[in-house]
Amino acid sequence: MKKESLVSITDYSKDEILEVLETAKLFEANPNRRVLEGKVIATLFFEPSTRTRLSFETAVNRLGGRIIGFSDASTTSSTKGETLKDTIIMVSNYVDLIIMRHYLDGAARYASEVSPKPIINAGDGSNQHPSQTLLDLYSIYKTQDTLENLNITMVGDLKYGRTVHSLLMAMSHFRPTFHFVAPEELKMPDEYKVYCDKLGIPYEEHRDFTEDIINRADILYMTRVQRERFTDLMEYEKVKNVYTLRNAMLAGSKPNLRILHPLPRVNEIAYDVDDNPKAYYFEQAKNGLYTRQAIICKVLGIKITD
Ligand code: CP
Repeated sequence: MKKESLVSITDYSKDEILEVLETAKLFEANPNRRVLEGKVIATLFFEPSTRTRLSFETAVNRLGGRIIGFSDASTTSSTKGETLKDTIIMVSNYVDLIIMRHYLDGAARYASEVSPKPIINAGDGSNQHPSQTLLDLYSIYKTQDTLENLNITMVGDLKYGRTVHSLLMAMSHFRPTFHFVAPEELKMPDEYKVYCDKLGIPYEEHRDFTEDIINRADILYMTRVQRERFTDLMEYEKVKNVYTLRNAMLAGSKPNLRILHPLPRVNEIAYDVDDNPKAYYFEQAKNGLYTRQAIICKVLGIKITD
């Protein structure tokens, strides 16, 4: 079998992205299909997670597969000095697929290079989170009936937020206009702006999170300031509550606006937004189950037709 890892969202063409979204739709209609009978899948989480790990594990369970793995690397032999390479080679002896989250940028690519079994990147440092991006695209498509020509406003920690990096690259297939709202310390890294420039994708950068920006958005993608990526916690303290979306700020927003957030949230969306019909972040997380079922099947070469 050809090894088909998903490490970066750029590993998938536009057609492959759309294929995953079509399959996710089939899983949403029926998430209980025994297509992973006889398969064993590892979830190796070197960093904390609620949604990503539990939705991947639910996906496997609903598809009839078995799960091994860990959610706390401190219980593993990595604490004795075992390298990531040795860990991956060992686990690949036991399973058909490895789903891994790691705190280091590039760890998933490295794992995919040393592993004889496919790897799904469940987030590597501040680099990429491709399965989140595919569920974000599925959520955008469901709520907008299109992925084309949308005004996507990304707010918060655009420096360390791996979800916005992956989403920017994926949306580049669909002629978006981006607005990046971030304080100076957390602005979108140059490499992603160069990426947009090369593809002719328009973007504007903002320091203030104003109602004028909100009123132009089709998708408002809020993000948490990533405390775990700061080396100096004093710097985190300065920016931790930089933007909070409140319900009153949505009064003039477009009817089709939907508010997304990869979650967990801390203070960036006030609880009074939750009852607004434009709040979509909990449904977005639910879409993760169907999308991750589709990703697992694609990586393992399992076709779902109806
Ligand atoms: N969105 C996301 O990655 O959430 P978790 O960290 O809880 O997995």
